[in-house]
Amino acid sequence: MICCLQTLLLFLAQLVLSGWVLTAPTISDNFFYHDFLNGNSNKEIHFRGVKLHVDSALPSVFAARGGNVTMPCRFWHEPEVSSPREVRVKWSWLPATGGQETDVLVAIGSRSRIFGEFRGRVQLRQDFPGDAALVMTELQLNDTGRYRCEVVDGLEDKSSSVYLELRGVVFPYQHPRGYYHMSFLEAQQACDEQDSTLATFTQLFQSWKEGLNWCNAGWLADGTVQYPITRPRVPCGGNDLAPGLRSYGRRHRRLHRYDVFCFSSSLRGEVYYLQPSDKMNLTEAEQACQKDGADIAKVGQLYAAWKLAGLDRCDAGWLADGSVRYPINRPRTNCGSSEPGVRSVGFPPPQHKHGVYCYKSENERM
Ligand SMILES: *[C@@H]1O[C@H](CO)[C@@H](O)[C@H](O)[C@H]1NC(C)=O
Ligand SMILES: *[C@@H]1O[C@H](CO)[C@@H](O)[C@H](O)[C@H]1NC(C)=O
Ligand SMILES: *[C@@H]1O[C@H](CO)[C@@H](O)[C@H](O)[C@H]1NC(C)=O
Repeated sequence: MICCLQTLLLFLAQLVLSGWVLTAPTISDNFFYHDFLNGNSNKEIHFRGVKLHVDSALPSVFAARGGNVTMPCRFWHEPEVSSPREVRVKWSWLPATGGQETDVLVAIGSRSRIFGEFRGRVQLRQDFPGDAALVMTELQLNDTGRYRCEVVDGLEDKSSSVYLELRGVVFPYQHPRGYYHMSFLEAQQACDEQDSTLATFTQLFQSWKEGLNWCNAGWLADGTVQYPITRPRVPCGGNDLAPGLRSYGRRHRRLHRYDVFCFSSSLRGEVYYLQPSDKMNLTEAEQACQKDGADIAKVGQLYAAWKLAGLDRCDAGWLADGSVRYPINRPRTNCGSSEPGVRSVGFPPPQHKHGVYCYKSENERM
């Protein structure tokens, strides 16, 4: 080691003597290419303070389920380098539910490797020099979270992040056996079963801004328990508290039990009301949808159709979880409250007679 250090110092002394001047770094993470140690002098830049920059341009991007999204990321050197440099680009993902950052894609030049569930759905854009944007297709509800673009050039390593948010609809969900019945895991399963996923804080906040007013506390993706209040009233924390999201903070994921806020986004299909000549019990309702080439609709599908496709129907119908609901966009007499919403009749005994909401996916329609 000592020998090398001496050589280096000697080398540097010679450079200074021969008229080279090393500029002092002005910023602490400034980086100098000391590639003379490797001896491949013709390929590398000598004694120039070249700094790598990485920028995402946007803090967050919004998309819908089934859609595509481009997460921007650009890198460049300052001062500009004359010949293109081979850098390593790595995208990783921190899910909205927390946990560990996982690899999405690693690329060097035109070679890339894609990991896990992202195979077949992501690629690096590379439209211009320094373009490291990630193009993602077939978005799923659980793709939300922080995507980090990391660029490595030699010893230098810079990164920048973009949040992926999905647009859609948030709905409160209660267990068939009553309120405050679900642990975090059970809440997650309940949303999954209703073609939805745990809502993120941003999604609940957005719904609150759009008027969601709900007095029961529910789990969110980050493990906190909250509820949105637009009109303060006594049973919901009192008249004195300002409107907003009321938070119980992070709760114990196994021991504590609440309702849940689920999130759904656009559908590749259609939800419709079906009522053959007679009303049906739950079993008959399921069969009626199947006979029609469809399935009994899930709660998330009814909410998505209500919010995103304007479904409006003043007939109570069975849904897959055994609840009976109906979607109202144009409030009118005898169709529930004066505000738009999905009305719930609760979970009646399965022998009760109602119509049914069915869901036909795009494939089934063709
Ligand atoms: C998403 O991208 C794929 C492939 O680039 C394209 O075939 C598809 O039509 C796009 N989908 C949407 C919803 O834009
Ligand atoms: C995300 O959702 C898809 C489709 O619903 C599912 O196949 C996948 O396992 C989910 N991924 C995670 C990490 O939960
Ligand atoms: C619904 O009615 C059918 C007869 O049409 C009966 O066989 C079935 O047990 C009933 N199901 C329920 C849940 O009541």
